[in-house]
Amino acid sequence: MKKSEDKLKDVISHAKEYGYVFPSSEIYDGLSATYDYGQLGVELKNNIKRYWWTAMVQMNDEIVGLDAAIFMHPKTWEASGHTEAFNDPMIDNKDSKKRYRADVLIEEHIEKYREKIGKDVQKGKKRFGDDFDEAQFLATNPNVKRNQEKIDLLEGRLEEIFKNDDLAALKDMIDELGIACPISGSKNWTDVRQFNLMFSTELGSVAGDASKIYLRPETAQGIFVNFLNVQKTGRMKIPFGIAQIGKAFRNEIVARQFIFRMREFEQMEMQYFVRPGEELKWYEHWKEKRKRWHKALGLGDEFYRDHDHIQLAHYANAASDIEFDFPMGFKELEGIHSRTDFDLKAHEKHSGKKLQFFDPELKKSYNPYVVETSVGLDRLFLAVFSASLKSETLEDGSERVVLSLPPALAPYKVAVMPLTKKDGLPDKAMEIIDDLKFDFSCQYDDKDSIGKRYRRQDAIGTPFHVTVDHQTLEDNTVTIRDRDTMKQDRVAISDLHDIIEEKVSLKKLLQKG
Ligand code: GAP
Repeated sequence: MKKSEDKLKDVISHAKEYGYVFPSSEIYDGLSATYDYGQLGVELKNNIKRYWWTAMVQMNDEIVGLDAAIFMHPKTWEASGHTEAFNDPMIDNKDSKKRYRADVLIEEHIEKYREKIGKDVQKGKKRFGDDFDEAQFLATNPNVKRNQEKIDLLEGRLEEIFKNDDLAALKDMIDELGIACPISGSKNWTDVRQFNLMFSTELGSVAGDASKIYLRPETAQGIFVNFLNVQKTGRMKIPFGIAQIGKAFRNEIVARQFIFRMREFEQMEMQYFVRPGEELKWYEHWKEKRKRWHKALGLGDEFYRDHDHIQLAHYANAASDIEFDFPMGFKELEGIHSRTDFDLKAHEKHSGKKLQFFDPELKKSYNPYVVETSVGLDRLFLAVFSASLKSETLEDGSERVVLSLPPALAPYKVAVMPLTKKDGLPDKAMEIIDDLKFDFSCQYDDKDSIGKRYRRQDAIGTPFHVTVDHQTLEDNTVTIRDRDTMKQDRVAISDLHDIIEEKVSLKKLLQKG
């Protein structure tokens, strides 16, 4: 098993080497926490978007799409609370000059106790084998109980600190726990201070506060301000949802870990408008549905875990993250939030316009409650890419690097390769591509030996590799190699379409989710 930093380094270099992700403006030495998606990256990203959009909008009668502008009226952010409260509590280490999120330092400290519990469970499993009862072990083992008590105590304190917005107490906790800077190893910290994460710019040519606008820090507000437009013009009845994919911007202070935390990123968000009082039912519904959607990708159920929030955002009455086991460990991939009627009410107040729904069954108007699902497209890209990147030792002792992307998401579905560049084989290969390209993205590849071409296609994640040889010219058959099993079969060209479709079909993926 590779160390996590090594695994992340492998992911970054593989993504760059094969045209998935490049550092932004690299010829000028890059811009921190900003990345460009290359020729294969954009395909993978578009396929992820298609998987999400189809599952959300096409498959649900009551969910429709939206594409709102990035710039919004500045009052939007007063209403949403972002101008006032979209802050992170930051602390600097005086020796390394590095800045950290104070609450994350404490959460990472708490995570160590969870890891200890995990290790004890593993030991228990080894020792007791099939007789191991995990629930009983967690409830009775003294080490586990001690560590769980520490976790509960620290999480309780953290919750209290956030409730009171007590930055001094946050600093005291860091001192008390003896948390050291991971870079300098020192405990020489500044006080904790709040930093607003929104980027601002000027509208038009006049500078000054009157023309100051923000780059949206989340796509959700574009949905809230259009709630009534969509409801009325689409004749939508509660419950209904509005889905959107788009860019969001945050001046992240701690922007690290490749495309996991960026300053410019993309969100795929859906706001589901429900009757007041029914929000927690829908919250549970969407939590389960979103997990099934993620797991249908087949990366492995062990990559996912839930994290129910103890510290709720100002607008939420329940919130949970679907966490993914990234190369750096388990971290948030998607958030499911029960946002109450906070946003619609706040926009009503700030705009002076009613944002209500007349419920014909209840015969009254109300501000609907909202359940939100919000997943970072770039994080999902990293999740899929990192879990798919594998290094295998083959039977003959050689190594192969394979990117076993879910076939429906792979940039190219099939590579078609003439065995040689002579005897009409390239023309035959192009003929096959000309037929398949209406349904599948194909790549023509005639460089290097066939073995090297297979390796290259493995590395970029192409699920099928078709080779055209001299026999093809005689009987219209080709060999088709499967990326994952490396098995090769001789098949008729006329069967290629169905063989490929069976494995790369988005429909099959959607049916699983
Ligand atoms: N509308 C709710 C909202 O924006 P959030 O938890 O702040 O909630 C939602 O963000 C998702 O957006 C996260 O789960 C994550 O996947 C993604 N995300 C947030 N900040 C990000 C960043 N700086 N870089 C990449 N993805 C980010």
